Amino acid sequence: MKPAAALVLSALLSLGAAAAGAEDLASFHNKLGGCQTCHGASSVTAADVPDDEIDINGKCMTCHGDYKKLADKSKRFDPHNSHLSDRSPINCTVCHAGHAQPKLICNDCHSFDMKMPFADAAARPAWDDGIDEKAVAAAEAAAPRETVDVLVIGAGSAGLNAAIAAKRAGASVVLLEKHAYAGGNSMLAAGGYNAVGTPQQAKKGIKDSVDLYVKDTMKGGRGKNDPQLVRILAEQSASGVKWLEDMGADLSDVKRSGGATVSRTHRPHGGMSVGPHIVDVLRAEATKEGVGARVNSRAVKLLLDKDFKIAGAIVHGKHSGYYKIAARAVVLATGGYGQNKQMIAFYRPTFKNMTSSNNVTSTGDGITMALNIGASMTDIDWVQAHPTVGLDSRILISETVRGVGAIMVNIKGARFVNELTTRDRASDAILHQPERRAWLVFDSDLYNSAKMVRGYDHLGMLKKADTIEKLAETCGMDPATLAGTVRSYNAYRKAGKDEAFGRPDMPLGIEKAPYYAVAVAPGIHHTMGGVAITPQSELLDIQSRPIPGLYAAGEVTGGVHGFNRLGGNAIADTVVFGRRSGEHAAQYALGLKSAK
Ligand code: FUM
Repeated sequence: MKPAAALVLSALLSLGAAAAGAEDLASFHNKLGGCQTCHGASSVTAADVPDDEIDINGKCMTCHGDYKKLADKSKRFDPHNSHLSDRSPINCTVCHAGHAQPKLICNDCHSFDMKMPFADAAARPAWDDGIDEKAVAAAEAAAPRETVDVLVIGAGSAGLNAAIAAKRAGASVVLLEKHAYAGGNSMLAAGGYNAVGTPQQAKKGIKDSVDLYVKDTMKGGRGKNDPQLVRILAEQSASGVKWLEDMGADLSDVKRSGGATVSRTHRPHGGMSVGPHIVDVLRAEATKEGVGARVNSRAVKLLLDKDFKIAGAIVHGKHSGYYKIAARAVVLATGGYGQNKQMIAFYRPTFKNMTSSNNVTSTGDGITMALNIGASMTDIDWVQAHPTVGLDSRILISETVRGVGAIMVNIKGARFVNELTTRDRASDAILHQPERRAWLVFDSDLYNSAKMVRGYDHLGMLKKADTIEKLAETCGMDPATLAGTVRSYNAYRKAGKDEAFGRPDMPLGIEKAPYYAVAVAPGIHHTMGGVAITPQSELLDIQSRPIPGLYAAGEVTGGVHGFNRLGGNAIADTVVFGRRSGEHAAQYALGLKSAK
């Protein structure tokens, strides 16, 4: 570090430490041997630190060892253990921030009461709180820091797929991610990937067709989906599965999701969640292709040239500040707005106090940037409430749990809906029950068959008992009512017909002790609306003309899901349209280049 900067920094650090009565990680390490302890070079300013912080993380591991070494297998929770990935581990600085209060980033999704080293250091505003408009204007006026064929904004599944596809098509690519690690909302996807015509379906003798997939999706979307987009989704779904499998993904299991006529939701074996797995695979593949995400890098403005063609974007890097990337084509893959309270309150006021199962990254940035350049929106005010988010939490209790056999009962212990109906109908039914909440009830056969359920158990979310009556007592339900409900359900299952609610599939009974229950309530899960796109993933302007060079994919777009998305169609959307947008963007950019 330059001497003056070091002085200022150390003064700031001691001020911060004194104010909080505690020091942060950087001040602690500074005492051990100066800034070089972590930064290596003796002369370093904030702008010298790469935004991805990979270099710094190498330094952490030099002294502390890698995840494998740090993982304490004897502990019930050890994030080094549970987040260990041989394919694509996350940076140490994601949780152990140096110059700010360390963040228990797991609490973005979970709510652990866990002590982090130096957690009592002074809190500082997040680096990306707000946008400095003056800095944006200066960056816009300056020369671009780099020029690429395709700039992909957002590194969830859609963006990762787009980046890989564009790179394989021969384009130079930069993939931006505002968060400290790639994965976005896709990372939290639990259920699976809807696809028709796969070897997995054939092996199980499942009779499905593109037409049936289209019909189910349109019905689920209340007929408001763009039929052309839905057909592409169905037609290209199986090749998307193969594309992921060729990268090493496991989508060997197939099950049924709400609103689907047959089983077409593909997922890893053993009931593992689909999102973390495919994000892991995609992250590793993107890195292998040389298009790994540039993390801590938030796009804040899309740029058009004088002919209203896309020209690039202004980016805010955590350490490097505001700069311009010139791009021949841009893919917007920034996700939905389920975590943006203002947007929810504006577009869907009745949901404004609802919890959300979404990643903290789902703040609608892409929608805002697109609106600012005159993009057209489709179904922007359609927001999906998932019926089963863990009560008073943000943890999604996957539709898989109902799909593989759980029943849903109200606080008295009575069923009130076909558990496999679409999410909008199921959420609505819960919101009409006493206390606007419900319980999922299942037995040990289900517990043993779905790995994700053991995850809920680890998080302390399950109630357990040896008899149905005791389970009811533990949960505050009426024992006789719950026992009667379970008896009737088991009888319907044996007879092959749900006389009460017409549930179409009852794979398991509730027969083997111990019995389990988890409390649930509806929570914001998916924003169906977003930027309007063509079948080629081109983004449309307010007069429904494609904005040349601008593409979009995934939850930032509208049209694919209509008014209500079916479970398993989000991951399918991100893979199918992520790939398409990357391929079309590369084709456009390379065409421009060769025309010169
Ligand atoms: O409930 C779920 O597993 C969610 C799946 C999805 O949103 O597609």
